[in-house]
Amino acid sequence: MPEARPPLFASDWLVGAPYDDVPMGVLKTGKESEVHLIARIGPERTSLIAEKRFKERRSRGFRNDYRYAGVWGAGGRREARAIRNRTRFGQQAIQARWIDHEWTTLTRLYEAGVTVPPPVEQVADGYRMAFVGDGDRAAPRLTEIDLDRETARLVWREVQLEIRRMLEADVVHGDLSAFNVLWWRGRAVLIDFSQAVDAVTHPAARELLVRDVERAASYFVRMGVAIDVRAALAVVGDSPARFASQLLSS
Ligand SMILES: Nc1ncnc2c1ncn2[C@@H]1O[C@H](COP(=O)(O)OP(=O)(O)OP(=O)(O)O)[C@@H](O)[C@H]1O
Ligand SMILES: [Mg+2]
Repeated sequence: MPEARPPLFASDWLVGAPYDDVPMGVLKTGKESEVHLIARIGPERTSLIAEKRFKERRSRGFRNDYRYAGVWGAGGRREARAIRNRTRFGQQAIQARWIDHEWTTLTRLYEAGVTVPPPVEQVADGYRMAFVGDGDRAAPRLTEIDLDRETARLVWREVQLEIRRMLEADVVHGDLSAFNVLWWRGRAVLIDFSQAVDAVTHPAARELLVRDVERAASYFVRMGVAIDVRAALAVVGDSPARFASQLLSS
């Protein structure tokens, strides 16, 4: 398998102490989160940071969907009871779990060499990562742009390799589509790991992997790339052996 392309950000992209963090406003307001822009200003230079803050949503954590079992799985009995009884403590517990889950996933993928925004730190209701954009203009999502066919073919190849790298780190994105891929300096940057699952232990991992590949492929098909989803699944490393335990238990 080809080596990962050079990292998106130099290892020293983030200014060190002493610095001032200056809020620069809201970049995007989504259904479940708000992404804020923050300028970290040091004596000599400034780094731009994106802070994803999760909204408190009564319904979100309570989706009674087996595909979220990975998020539901951890935690003690008191927490489990509170969540089940939908108490305030339960709300907070599940909120914290979601944020922690996304942060941990981002960090793991970054370390595995997947093209994601470098993680910075956790904050009270979310986490911080490198801002992907030029000046204070955020990079567009793939959905917002049309790639020419030749570029689309190359980028589709890259995206398949990114999915493969994720799988090698035992992660399935779970919500992959052109909405969650930023286009920046000729690179596809994967974001939004709120629905990621563990590829080894999660019962729906293979189903989610197939859905990720299909949804991601559909953008590139629109851009004129001829795609055989079965071949793509082979490229990303899907195989009966990898998911054998899941097949047995289904
Ligand atoms: N690191 C980043 N740099 C620049 N822009 C970002 C970054 N992270 C997120 N964004 C922008 O914020 C949007 C929302 O982020 P994300 O997809 O993680 O959250 P979400 O809760 O799924 O939001 P939505 O409901 O809009 O899908 C992204 O589509 C992207 O435009
Ligand atoms: Mg999203």
